[in-house]
Amino acid sequence: MFSLELSSLKKTEELGISLGKIVESGDVITLHGPLGSGKTTLTQAIGQGLGVDPRIYITSPTFSLLHEYQGRIPLYHMDLYRLADEDEIESIGLQEYFFGNGVTVIEWPERLGSLMPAERLDLVLVISGEASRTAYLTEHGDLWQKKVAEIISMV
Ligand SMILES: Nc1ncnc2c1ncn2[C@@H]1O[C@H](COP(=O)(O)OP(=O)(O)O)[C@@H](O)[C@H]1O
Ligand SMILES: [Mg+2]
Repeated sequence: MFSLELSSLKKTEELGISLGKIVESGDVITLHGPLGSGKTTLTQAIGQGLGVDPRIYITSPTFSLLHEYQGRIPLYHMDLYRLADEDEIESIGLQEYFFGNGVTVIEWPERLGSLMPAERLDLVLVISGEASRTAYLTEHGDLWQKKVAEIISMV
């Protein structure tokens, strides 16, 4: 596990952009943290790093469950808040995106239960001040070990 001090909005954006540059098809990133901790802000920066058209505004998919954006590879942005449990997620088929051509970023991933993919990056955002956040990155799987080391050297 690594921790990063994101002492300003710009630092959070830099982390997201770096993530967007290195992610590959089939990568899954789970975002944890309270309301206002920066999950959507970070996802917007991941989109920027992926080269999503800057005129397209990335918003929380709370009501639609999934927003898809086209960048270097697709970005699947999920918010599972409104879903009850893994049975509901499975019946919708959201888990199929994990093995798709894009990178999946998931807000409220706790809802996944046993559908949680083994290989993933868990990112926890903690509010440490009005404009500061602490990010805790936990890598699951060898590929993420490598990627997180790369990210740490970039930011
Ligand atoms: N260092 C920082 N990192 C991320 N967001 C920050 C930071 N400092 C201030 N903010 C602000 O906190 C808010 C985070 O909101 P949002 O990304 O919607 O959070 P969430 O999706 O977790 O509810 C934004 O208004 C953002 O400008
Ligand atoms: Mg949000």
